[in-house]
Amino acid sequence: MTRNLTFSIFRYNPMDRTSTPHMDTFVVPETSSMTLFIALTRIREEQDPSLQFDFCCRAGICGACGMLVNGRPNLACKTKTKELPDVVTLLPLPIFRLVGDLSVDTGTWFREMYSRVGSWIHTDREFDPLAEEERMDNALANEIYELERCIECGCCIAGCATARMRRDFLGAAGLNRVARFMLDPRDQRTEKDFFEIIGDDEGIFGCMGLLGCEDVCPKGLPLQDQLGFLRRRMGLAAIRSFLPGGK
Ligand code: SF4
Ligand code: SF4
Ligand code: FES
Repeated sequence: MTRNLTFSIFRYNPMDRTSTPHMDTFVVPETSSMTLFIALTRIREEQDPSLQFDFCCRAGICGACGMLVNGRPNLACKTKTKELPDVVTLLPLPIFRLVGDLSVDTGTWFREMYSRVGSWIHTDREFDPLAEEERMDNALANEIYELERCIECGCCIAGCATARMRRDFLGAAGLNRVARFMLDPRDQRTEKDFFEIIGDDEGIFGCMGLLGCEDVCPKGLPLQDQLGFLRRRMGLAAIRSFLPGGK
């Protein structure tokens, strides 16, 4: 028998002075293999064309469709309605600037974070376009690739208690980015340089280690391992800086 799904959806348009935050209810008959993306599209096409939400790839690749699904950050395009109860509450991801309804601006947050952590290979070697591509050890290349799989969906930031309390906290996505460049032998930054970026409460020492980030990451990034790796490396760097002659 077809289930009727009831969606309670946050509505607010910050650009409209007459708009006030509230929840709207929509009922949608469930279809086979329905995802939240399909349900939201049906609501927009059949019931309310003003409903705002983001999507691009519909395949868990672009990271645009993150939202709180019954309180948990997740990707709408990868969430099957058959895994959900009859009543579903949808809210925009917290922390990011609200564009309207379920749509948030993760791009500005990620751009600022990339700029803060210097998200590129820092080297004084001149680029030679005619040189042969350099080889990298396969195991190391795979390790770096694993961390490059982040799709910037913002779910780990939205699920992080520290990010809620500290506006400038780098969050798991930012710390993961730093770990990626620490692994890369082409990046000539020293431990001290990285300590300058993440060696405080806005960085690794603000992380409470309860791993909400790893629980909600839809791409299954090894965030727990990276946070542990950074905590050890930066803790040792802090100790070394206190030793006689420490830098
Ligand atoms: S482990 Fe750290 S980064 Fe992850 S959710 Fe907790 S405080 Fe945030
Ligand atoms: S680390 Fe995971 S949850 Fe965080 S932004 Fe990247 S893909 Fe999304
Ligand atoms: S639409 Fe691209 S990840 Fe969901």
